[in-house]
Amino acid sequence: MSFLEKLNWRYATKAMNGQKVPQEKVDRILEAIRLAPTSSGLQPFEVMVITNDEIKTKIKPIAFDQPQIIDCSHLLVFAAWDTYTEARINAFFDLGNAIRGKSEGSEMYRQKLLATYPQRDAETNFQHTARQTYIAFMAGIAQAAFEGVDSTPMEGFENDKLDEILKLREKGLRSTVLLALGYRDNENDWLVNLKKVRKSKENLFTMID
Ligand SMILES: Cc1cc2nc3c(=O)[nH]c(=O)nc-3n(C[C@H](O)[C@H](O)[C@H](O)COP(=O)(O)O)c2cc1C
Repeated sequence: MSFLEKLNWRYATKAMNGQKVPQEKVDRILEAIRLAPTSSGLQPFEVMVITNDEIKTKIKPIAFDQPQIIDCSHLLVFAAWDTYTEARINAFFDLGNAIRGKSEGSEMYRQKLLATYPQRDAETNFQHTARQTYIAFMAGIAQAAFEGVDSTPMEGFENDKLDEILKLREKGLRSTVLLALGYRDNENDWLVNLKKVRKSKENLFTMID
């Protein structure tokens, strides 16, 4: 199957059958998330990978009782930095120096970010970090499709309550979006055989030649 065929195969799975996704497939999905590009390369988020049934049971009622929370194999929680701090920015540039060696260019860029991001209000910074999580989220969705693994992207949950369950705020994180990984329940998923609904190319793209 081509990449586009796989993207057509995937859909936001509404019912999963509880089957476990093999670890090597999960590892490759997580690797795609790790490799996703982010603004300045800062990767301003963490991802919680939940298989624990007790935690899943706590999450379900604050996610509008969506059954995939329990019936998925792995539930990924994308959690963005609550703000940019000097320490977080420095850690990123220190890592870059350790991997690539120090350069004048990167040091100048470090100073530029240090002079810009930590001074901004936390909400503005969070809106920026949150956007970065969606890039990695889509990389995970695409890799899951590539692996023949179903997934459900989910914003349908109460962020504050999830932050409390996972103690994210204490770690300087705020949940943004969930990705349930698993396998479709062909018998019980009302969406499984429905056609995709997408805008026409004409309505989506404007060619400016
Ligand atoms: C950011 C985001 C949040 C979503 N939240 C939910 C959700 O909470 N529950 C759900 O069943 N589907 C959710 N969806 C699935 C969308 O409704 C679905 O992707 C869209 O209708 C397109 O259909 P398809 O993914 O099946 O092709 C979400 C999708 C995205 C991208």
